[in-house]
Amino acid sequence: MGEGGKAADSTDDARSFLTSGDAYDAFMGRYSRPLADAFADVAGVEAGQSVLDVGCGPGSLTGVLVDRLGAGSVSAIDPSPPFVAECASRHRGADVRLGSAEAIPFDDASFDSALAQLVLHFVTDPARAAAELRRVVRPSGIAAACVWDFAQGMEMLRHFWDAALTVDSDAPDEAQAMRFGRAGELVELLEAAGFHEVTETTLEVASTYGEFEELWSGFLAGIGPAGSFCVSLSDEQRSAVREELFRRIGAPTGRFTLAATARCAHGRTPR
Ligand SMILES: C[S@@+](CC[C@H](N)C(=O)[O-])C[C@H]1O[C@@H](n2cnc3c(N)ncnc32)[C@H](O)[C@@H]1O
Repeated sequence: MGEGGKAADSTDDARSFLTSGDAYDAFMGRYSRPLADAFADVAGVEAGQSVLDVGCGPGSLTGVLVDRLGAGSVSAIDPSPPFVAECASRHRGADVRLGSAEAIPFDDASFDSALAQLVLHFVTDPARAAAELRRVVRPSGIAAACVWDFAQGMEMLRHFWDAALTVDSDAPDEAQAMRFGRAGELVELLEAAGFHEVTETTLEVASTYGEFEELWSGFLAGIGPAGSFCVSLSDEQRSAVREELFRRIGAPTGRFTLAATARCAHGRTPR
């Protein structure tokens, strides 16, 4: 992640996720791992199926799929080379490839289902990505996607952006900058791509931190839009955001828990 430059210049860094799997897990994987279980349930993932994880990162959802289906029935793609390497090493036997949602490197109708967890808000051409999900899923198969509810339901990011906005009124709050976190947006995307029986669900998870520094160090790793923005600030601005964040989460002196809500949509490919 870039150290210098304002957030407006760090869009590519924010999307590129050139970071280690362990750093990602300490920041976001701590939420995406429990989310993956609930998301796989919504998508009806069960033994005997062949499933693709689109935008797999270091493998939170890939791991859940491997547990349910066996590694030989799981494929995964991501455009981040370090994440592909990490996912492949964590989930040996799964077919993990470098690739993007807009050009999925698999043949037509290769999978019973394709799942994109916390990904579609990062892709540059979501309509193309939805068309690709439809292409690689067999007739009457399932595609599913989920994105955090940035405005209300992802406390870690909501408190961070509220703190950031007190320091810089132009801070790129993900509730404004990101698509698909609002009710109906993912449904609209899947329906426009030709999926049938599209249904929206909300999924709730939480993560417990031992102390405030555990939360703050996640932002300092520079991951995603919030981390990229955090490391782009001057030392003085960053200290001000830190103080304001600490205050907003209730000035914890020990353990505390933050909740996160994701909006999820799943639909069926035509027969
Ligand atoms: C917030 S992470 C989610 C990772 C993982 N799915 C999880 O739930 O932990 C977003 C992921 O989307 C990937 N990504 C960004 N642009 C993408 C694209 N165009 N196609 C597929 N994945 C993309 C990033 O590399 C990153 O791994």
